[in-house]
Amino acid sequence: MSDTAPVLTSHLPLPLLHRGKVRDVYEVDADTLLMVASDRVSAFDVVMGRPIPRKGEVLTLITAWWLSELDGRLDHHLLAVDPDEIVRRHPALASSRDGWARRAMLVRRTTPVLVECVIRGYIAGSAWKEYRTGGTLAGEPLPPGLQESSRLDPPIFSPATKAQEGHDENIPFSHVVDTLGADVANLLLRRSMEVYEFGRDRAAQAGIILADTKFEFGFDGAGRLLLIDEVMTPDSSRFWPQESYAVGRGQPSLDKQPIRDWLDSLEDWDKTPPPPELTDEVVDSASRRYMDIFQRLTGSSLDAFTLPHFGDDA
Ligand SMILES: Nc1ncnc2c1ncn2[C@@H]1O[C@H](COP(=O)(O)OP(=O)(O)OP(=O)(O)O)[C@@H](O)[C@H]1O
Ligand SMILES: [Mg+2]
Repeated sequence: MSDTAPVLTSHLPLPLLHRGKVRDVYEVDADTLLMVASDRVSAFDVVMGRPIPRKGEVLTLITAWWLSELDGRLDHHLLAVDPDEIVRRHPALASSRDGWARRAMLVRRTTPVLVECVIRGYIAGSAWKEYRTGGTLAGEPLPPGLQESSRLDPPIFSPATKAQEGHDENIPFSHVVDTLGADVANLLLRRSMEVYEFGRDRAAQAGIILADTKFEFGFDGAGRLLLIDEVMTPDSSRFWPQESYAVGRGQPSLDKQPIRDWLDSLEDWDKTPPPPELTDEVVDSASRRYMDIFQRLTGSSLDAFTLPHFGDDA
C-alpha cells in the first residue's frame, strides 16, 4: 500500500523553508508546516547517494504512532498524517500528493527552543567518549565505574546545542537555565523525561532497548510549549536489539548496521563526502530493517498500519 516511489529529494510546489540531512520542511501557511521525510540516509554523518525505500514513511509513521500512543499526555505539534485528512484541510496539496503521502506530517508551526533535549538511559556515543576520558558528561561528574553501554538509572537529561553546522555539543543543565530561565529549563527536563520513560517501557515490551533519544520543543503563538519534530525514531534515537545487548562494548544498531558494516569493509573510503554508491543488496537489507523495526515496535506491518488521527477536528 505504499503509494510513493523512493524519494531522495522532494520537490513540492510550496515554499521550502529547510532541507536537513533527512527532512524537507515546507510552509503551508503562516501557522502550518509540511514536514516531509525523504528516503535519504546518513552514515558516519555523510548522506548517502541512494535512497532507502520506505525509510521516510517509517520515520513519519513511527512518530505518528508514538504521538497517538502518548495522546492526551502532552501537547505536540502533529495535526494530521493521514493523506486524506491533510488534503481535506489543505486542498491545494492534492495535486502533489504522490510526492508526500505517508511520508509527511502536517504540523503546527512553532518557534523552536534552541536546545536539543537528549535523554540518555544508557551511556553511548559522545557521552561515552567524554566519560571514558574524565568520568564526566558536559563537564559534570557521572557515577564512577560505568562501562560502555551501561544502563543509567535514573536516566540523564543531557541537553545539547542545536548546531547549524557540524556536531551538536553537549552542554550542562546550568547553561540551559542561563539561556532559557529555570522555569522553561525544568519544564524541558520534566517533559523529556516523561516521554522517554514512556517510550523506554513501551519499546522494552517489543524487545527493543531505547538507549537514548533526542526531543525538540517549540512555543506556539499562544505561548504553549509543544513537543515538535520527529519523536523516538531510529534517526533521533539509539534502538538496540534486547537479545544481543551486553555491557562493555558498543551495540549493533537496529537500523543502520548493514550500511555501516558495508562502509567499514571498504578500504578506500575515508568517511568524508562523496560517499561510495551503496549496492542493491545493502539498500535492500537496510530497507527491510526499517520495515522490521516498524513492525516490531508497533505490532503492525507498515502496509497494514491504521493511520492515527489527531486533534478535535480529526
Ligand atoms: N513544529 C515545528 N515548528 C517549527 N520548526 C520545526 C517544527 N518541527 C520541527 N521543526 C524544525 O524543522 C527542522 C527539521 O529539519 P531536519 O531535522 O531535517 O534538519 P536539521 O535538524 O536542521 O538537521 P539534521 O539534518 O542534522 O537533522 C528542524 O530544524 C526542527 O527544529
Ligand atoms: Mg533534525
